[in-house]
Amino acid sequence: MCGIMGYVGFRDTTKVILEGLAKHEYRGYDSAGIAVIRDGRIEDLRTVGRVAQLAEKAERSGFRGDIGIGHTRWATHGGVTENNAHPHISSDGRVVLVHNGIIENARDIRAELEACGVKFHTETDTESAVQYLGHVYDGDPKEAIVKLTKRVRGAFALVIIFHDKPNEIWVARKGSPLVVGHAENEGFCASDPTALLEFTHDVWFMDDDEMALIKREGCEFFDFNGDRHEKPTMHLDWDAAMTNRGAYPHFMLKEIHEQPEVVAHTLLGRVAEGEVDLSRELGWTAEDAAKWKKIHFIACGTSHYATIVAQHIMETFGSFEIRTEVASEYRYRNIPAGEDTLAVFVSQSGETADTLHAARLAKSRGARCLVITNVRGSTIHREVGEALITPAGPEIGVAATKTFTAQITILTLLGMYLSKLRGELDAETEKRLVSAMMDIPGKLASILSQEKDIAATARNFADARGFFFIGRGLAYPPALEGALKLKEISYLHAEAYPAGEMKHGPIALLDKELPVVALVPKGELWEKTVSNIEESMARKSPIIAVATEGDEEIGHYTENIIFTPETETELFPFIAVVPLQLFAYYIARQRGCDIDMPRNLAKSVTVE
Ligand code: G6P
Repeated sequence: MCGIMGYVGFRDTTKVILEGLAKHEYRGYDSAGIAVIRDGRIEDLRTVGRVAQLAEKAERSGFRGDIGIGHTRWATHGGVTENNAHPHISSDGRVVLVHNGIIENARDIRAELEACGVKFHTETDTESAVQYLGHVYDGDPKEAIVKLTKRVRGAFALVIIFHDKPNEIWVARKGSPLVVGHAENEGFCASDPTALLEFTHDVWFMDDDEMALIKREGCEFFDFNGDRHEKPTMHLDWDAAMTNRGAYPHFMLKEIHEQPEVVAHTLLGRVAEGEVDLSRELGWTAEDAAKWKKIHFIACGTSHYATIVAQHIMETFGSFEIRTEVASEYRYRNIPAGEDTLAVFVSQSGETADTLHAARLAKSRGARCLVITNVRGSTIHREVGEALITPAGPEIGVAATKTFTAQITILTLLGMYLSKLRGELDAETEKRLVSAMMDIPGKLASILSQEKDIAATARNFADARGFFFIGRGLAYPPALEGALKLKEISYLHAEAYPAGEMKHGPIALLDKELPVVALVPKGELWEKTVSNIEESMARKSPIIAVATEGDEEIGHYTENIIFTPETETELFPFIAVVPLQLFAYYIARQRGCDIDMPRNLAKSVTVE
């Protein structure tokens, strides 16, 4: 992971880099650093901790320069120390770089260079790249980088400055995201395009095996042999204001509150007059849909849970053989996929390394591939091609919220559209579900209006030892996401189980310090779930029920009830997940956790 940023232009370089790094902190935040060229010399400043600490240090020392690069780190090789923080400078002081990725043959390169007398100073894999460049550089940056790209193995986005080229930033990419931007008399690069929105909306997403030269006058692109090529820009339709927290104390809370609008926006242009229509985005025919017998949903983390929601919903009206697989496992298993398979990759960021590799595998096996992502132009979007974009806008909080609801909205539409193409979705079901989906934004808004009560319930349980989340049928997938949210931001252990499975093991853990969050909507499984609530109560577990408005009976079992509006059975996950996000948020807040940047996590995981 890690976030990187580079700037050459007329503004205050330190300020541009530090503000850009702050927008990248979700990618890693254990240490940060910046390097500039000043009076023909490379100068650097690094610190363990956050970008804010680096900014204080820069302010105190009056750190300035004409051209600069910066980095916020998520440690892989080498501990979290100032010495291991990027940027790294070659021992001869001629080259400085920042790196996102992993250099797999770093040990070999190090041994080779040490044998030539080069002194290493850190435990990082990155240092092998900068020392190598220092060793081979003879005044031609492009040639040195070409040599480097032939010598290193692994994944990298590199941003490099050479001491005697004070107007040039060089970048190279293989496997890690990198975007380049240019405005009048200034050039930029970053891991995340949102860091560039303030300056430009027309960017170049770097491809694998591609390098670029960024200057005030413009940008040039080359392959790894050093041959130049033209590259079209891509226009970003996000607004810089979307990356501000506004009056909210945390991005996560802001993003939770954006969900009614996000769902409405996701439906826009995809449903009309009781019908689903994805034909503007997908050129699929009835023959295609008839050919696909299997659907493989492949994703990680929250996106994986979104696919489990989709699977459960689709099973209610379609006949596909559906698998939901975690991308890091899919890659290494021999799951048959071919022309009869539609492989759907779901990734908020579009950069998750495991999902990307799984997509390449499915493609090579002949499956038809589709990606659902929030980032137009992301690596997975460019590689897979066929895509449905979730219009959730930039999500900054590390714990995904609004992109999850956008994903389940689009996945539900996808399921309906596919089944319709196959002639399996009757018009009545389609009309009923479309109309219920149109009502979801209003229902989410009504849940959000209960925020105070949900917060009060959550605070009462902030000292629990851990939590179980239980649900049956369509109440089980949101339980998974509810437990994940709580784990991620409150550091409490939380596990989700199909309610009926509790008795086969997990029940042994129940006692008065382990509350059970029971998702118990009105419907045919209500009584069965209530039986599981009773079993938990018999073991003294406090119960928090997420129940349907008007369900008075649930009051016999617990006082801790979050009521949700009634909806169609299939759509309960939409309704259930929002109170669970708020529940996790207020527990984490009560526990004083760093909600937007939980420890050890990064929003976009570009290493395997
Ligand atoms: C990381 C994030 C999770 C996210 C997962 C998949 O682990 O911390 O919040 O769900 O990656 O990310 P993607 O961008 O592929 O949806």
